[in-house]
Amino acid sequence: MASILDLALPHIQKLHAYTPGLQPTEPGWVKLNTNECPYPPSPHVVEAIRRELGDAGASLRLYPNPTSQPLRRTVARLHGIDEKQVCIGNGSDDILNLLVRAFGSEQALTGFTFPSYSLYPVLVAIEDGRSESIPFDRSMKLPIDAVARSKARMFILTSPNAPTGVGFSRAELEQVLENYRGVFVVDEAYALFAKEDAVPLLAKYPNLVVVRTLSKAYALAGIRVGYALGHPEVIDVLDRVRDSYNVSRLSQVAAIAALEDRAYYSAIIDRVRTTRDAAVRDWTERLGWFVYPSQTNFIFVEPKNARGEAGAAVAKSAYDFLCSRKVLVRYFPSHALTASFLRISVGTDDEMLVVNNSLEAWRKNA
Ligand SMILES: Cc1ncc(COP(=O)(O)O)c(C=O)c1O
Repeated sequence: MASILDLALPHIQKLHAYTPGLQPTEPGWVKLNTNECPYPPSPHVVEAIRRELGDAGASLRLYPNPTSQPLRRTVARLHGIDEKQVCIGNGSDDILNLLVRAFGSEQALTGFTFPSYSLYPVLVAIEDGRSESIPFDRSMKLPIDAVARSKARMFILTSPNAPTGVGFSRAELEQVLENYRGVFVVDEAYALFAKEDAVPLLAKYPNLVVVRTLSKAYALAGIRVGYALGHPEVIDVLDRVRDSYNVSRLSQVAAIAALEDRAYYSAIIDRVRTTRDAAVRDWTERLGWFVYPSQTNFIFVEPKNARGEAGAAVAKSAYDFLCSRKVLVRYFPSHALTASFLRISVGTDDEMLVVNNSLEAWRKNA
């Protein structure tokens, strides 16, 4: 009999699955590798989950609201748009998957920039689609003309970008939208830490889709909720390809409670930004390291050893040393533009102190 793999579709046999950041199970790690929030979610989230569970969890017998309608309403109110312009996903990865499933194929290219979120090419490969990748140069400035001229049927831009943290202005996004005729998806996973976002452009550009997540600023990576904002026709397309019950009961009530507690989240977002800006200042001014200006909750930094050298080997040595100190960050060795950098999620002030002490110890020996 043929192996089971031989029975899979040919493009699935060749597929390289997405590798998520490590999720260590043993305690004691300073975990700064997947851009989670270092603070807990709003206390209202826990209350809402307890209320939904009731005494014996009886509500869990029942399927959730299939369209997450009450949550769509909350999201629409938050952004001042109609609820027909909102689709809820099981994390924003689910939304990105629906977009690629609906708009991408072998004939219909999906475009993205490089570097950006490395899940996009995997989603395209799962659909046996084709993609167009537009490279950044070392400046990491948005190649506006190249994106606007792209022949892709759908183009996904991470804004602010990951893993660099570099933000793009609304005016730059609008320059793309003035000329690009495909579906322009702006993945705003980190927009709450940024200066500007694309939401106000929805009223003017029906081909714009904004994707958000509750995994980062809302401290709910474990609950898996994300959403798309777009023209009702785009939302209708996403609903056609969406699983009927894609968001659990507990996730729906948790997300509503989070989105309604604006005061709590604006305070923790401010704290993350303050910690981020202090770390960036310290590394650039005291250590003389190159850091891209970050509009996210992570910092893309090019470490230098005691001799003032940077490069892929230096970044790998810093990464390994941090690991040996149980500080987990991310590095991206597969491309020259990223190989000399570490991406460090912004932790609490105490966690950043551990990072700094560990980097200091590494520098002395490196
Ligand atoms: C740019 C970007 N988009 C989307 C996601 C996925 O977020 P979610 O947890 O909502 O699936 C991430 C997670 O790291 C990300 O960095």
